[in-house]
Amino acid sequence: MKTLDDLLGEGVTGRRVLVRADLNVPFDKNEAGRISDDGRIRAVLPTLIALRDAGARVILCSHLGRPKGAPDPKFTLAPVSARLGELLGTPVVFAEDTVGDSAKAAADALTDGQVLLLENLRFNAGETSKDDAVRGAFADELAGLAEFYVDDAFGAVHRKHASVYDVAARLPHYAGGLVLKEVEVLRKVTETPEQPYVVVLGGSKVSDKLAVIQALLPKVDKLLVGGGMCFTFLKAQGHEVGKSLLEAEMISTCADLLEQAQGRIVLPVDVVAATEFSADAEHSTVAADAIPADRLGLDIGPKSVALFAETIGSAKTVFWNGPMGVFELAPFAAGTRGVAEAITKIDGFSVVGGGDSAAAVRTLGIDESGFGHISTGGGASLEYLEGKTLPGVSALES
Ligand code: 3PG
Ligand code: MG
Repeated sequence: MKTLDDLLGEGVTGRRVLVRADLNVPFDKNEAGRISDDGRIRAVLPTLIALRDAGARVILCSHLGRPKGAPDPKFTLAPVSARLGELLGTPVVFAEDTVGDSAKAAADALTDGQVLLLENLRFNAGETSKDDAVRGAFADELAGLAEFYVDDAFGAVHRKHASVYDVAARLPHYAGGLVLKEVEVLRKVTETPEQPYVVVLGGSKVSDKLAVIQALLPKVDKLLVGGGMCFTFLKAQGHEVGKSLLEAEMISTCADLLEQAQGRIVLPVDVVAATEFSADAEHSTVAADAIPADRLGLDIGPKSVALFAETIGSAKTVFWNGPMGVFELAPFAAGTRGVAEAITKIDGFSVVGGGDSAAAVRTLGIDESGFGHISTGGGASLEYLEGKTLPGVSALES
C-alpha cells in the first residue's frame, strides 16, 4: 500500500490531489451550524498541512450525515469549511457542489498550497449507490478533478462508496497518516492484545454490536456491557426493565451469548432510572433487577461504575465503544465519565473506538492523553474487530 509519504517523495508541487476525509462531525442540537466536536477535522490536519506545505493543490471531500442523494441545506459542509480554515490558519475555498460547475471552476482556479473543500459527497446519488456503474460514473467525475488520490477517511473505510472505494481504481492512490495509524492500532489490538483484554461496549442497540460481540467473545477476558443495549441483556436474565430501551427480538440471542460467555459478560448491577427521556425528568438509582415499570434506565449506576472500573483496572488492553448512558444530558453522564476515567488510569494500552465515544470523551472534558488511541471511526473500527474486509482499505492495497 502506498502512503502519503510516498506521494510527497514523488513531488506534488502544483499537482491536484483529491483527499477523502471523514468530516462527519456532530453539531449542537440547540444551535444550528455549531460544531459540537471538531475532533474529526483536527485528525486530518496533518495530512492537509503536509500537502499544503509541499505546494499541492488540495481538493478535499467528505460526507456529512445521511442526506438522500440530493442537495439538502441541513447537511451542508459550509460550517466545516469555516472551521477547517480556522484550524489551518489559511482560508479554505468552498465549492457549492461536489463535481458540478462550482467544483470544477474552483479546482481549476486553485493555486499551489491552496485547499478546496467540495460540498457533501452524499448530495450525489452516485456516492452511495449499490449499482457499480452508477457509483463508477460518479467516481469518474470525482477522479476527473485531480491527478492523485489520498484516502484519510478512516471513519468511512467500511463503506463501499464511490469516494472511498471506486476512486482508488481511477487514480494513483495513497493512504493518509490517519488511516495508517488507525489500521496499525486496530491490528495490534486484534492480533496481539496483551492480556487481560477487557472490552467495554455501550450504545443503544445489541443488533448493531452483535457481530462484534460474537467475534470478540472468544478473545476477551471480560466484556462489560452498558448503554441502552444492556437492557436487552438484563431482560434475557429474567429481569423486568420497565420502559427502558428493549430489542425484544434480540432477547434470546442475548440469552445465548450470556450462556456462551460463562460469566465473562458483565452487566450493570444498578441503573439510573428516570420517568422520561429528559434532563429534567425525575430520576433515581435502582438495582438492575428492580427497575420500576414506569421508568426507563438512562445510565449505569455508581455500583456498576465501581464494578466496571475494578475490572478495567486489572486490564492490560481495553477497547471501548459506545457511551454507558445518555451522556449528553448531565444527570445521565456519570456512567460514561466514570468508565472513561477508569480507562485512562490503566497500566496498559487503551483504544477508544468510535465517533460517539470519542466525542463523549471530549464533550465530558476527559484528558485525551490518558488513552492509548482515540479512533475516529465507530462503525469502521467495529467492522475491523469483526474481521470484515474494509472496502476502503482493500482499495488502497490493490
Ligand atoms: C460515522 O460517523 O460513523 C462515519 O462518518 C460513517 O458515516 P455513515 O455511518 O453515515 O456511513
Ligand atoms: Mg455511524
